[in-house]
Amino acid sequence: MKRVFSGVKPTGHLTLGNYLGALRQWAEVDQHRADSLFCVVDLHALTVEHDPARVRRLSRQAATLLLAAGLDPQLCTVFVQSHVDEHARLSYLLECVATDGEMRRMIQYKEKSGRERERGGSVRLSLLTYPVLMAADILAYGADEVPVGDDQAQHVELTRDLAVRFNQRYGHTFVVPKATHPAVAARVMNLQEPTSKMGKSDAFGPGIVYLLDEPDVVRKKVMRAVTDSGLEVVYDRGERPGLANLLEILAACTGGEPEALAGAYGSYGALKKDTADAVVEVLRPVQARHRELCADPVHVEAVLRDGAAKARAMARPVVDSAYRAIGLLPPAPEPVADRVLNAVR
Ligand code: TRP
Repeated sequence: MKRVFSGVKPTGHLTLGNYLGALRQWAEVDQHRADSLFCVVDLHALTVEHDPARVRRLSRQAATLLLAAGLDPQLCTVFVQSHVDEHARLSYLLECVATDGEMRRMIQYKEKSGRERERGGSVRLSLLTYPVLMAADILAYGADEVPVGDDQAQHVELTRDLAVRFNQRYGHTFVVPKATHPAVAARVMNLQEPTSKMGKSDAFGPGIVYLLDEPDVVRKKVMRAVTDSGLEVVYDRGERPGLANLLEILAACTGGEPEALAGAYGSYGALKKDTADAVVEVLRPVQARHRELCADPVHVEAVLRDGAAKARAMARPVVDSAYRAIGLLPPAPEPVADRVLNAVR
């Protein structure tokens, strides 16, 4: 069976974009067809200015929402990255395989650090090395496939390069993974800025539908979505991005096709109303399940504890063999007598 790994970064509240573009696919497709791991990648949330209490809260919320979205711990492994030491252990080894030039070429790094420098600020070193940690996330589990959005394709490409380079220099250790972009997943754009993705941590708040938004808030945001000048409802991503986004959201929620849906509407108002209703209906069961899970925090903690234990058991041998391959001296095993003594103690 194929192994799948993906992660969500707790830098903001999860959005409709995260759900329609990722979580729903993980729950409906990936966990059934593959041996899959889904991880709240909290270490990645420390690469930018952060508030410790907020990261902690968002991590717990993201994990709860993964379960609320339908990830079933009987079928897949759900866990928090920092609960498994192997990520950080492997990340360092991969830093010894990657070059600084390669890191500085990453588009996301160039954009974020460029913006920061314009403001006279600085960025954390971890923002530069973050793709290496991401590579470690993936390689530690021998994942074959990494379902991600287009914006992460370059990081998965880097992961492949590092895996191949390590294998060539130090002997076959890692599975070389590939990025997958599920065809059915919607690429949800910001409702106020329909040419940029609906990210959880960006500036256009009113254009972001959060998974936990109340129905009336969802309706308000969708009804206020920017559309384009023009009167007919047509599906044209290039010329009419606002409209196309609404049509794609509606299609993703109802299982239709954006082109066909466009023909069914005579006005923007009617389209917005139906889109708002469809989003509310899609979120309803997720929110209900989220409420149940919040009422049972002990259950969620147990799921994460078991998930981390399973993940650790998978990653440990891979990372240990990378340590050996790269030339680190293995620690001597505990003498048998001590092991017996420790067991009875
Ligand atoms: N970098 C990803 C993002 O910003 C999150 C992530 C971290 C990830 N590690 C991963 C995704 C490993 C897939 C696999 O969305």
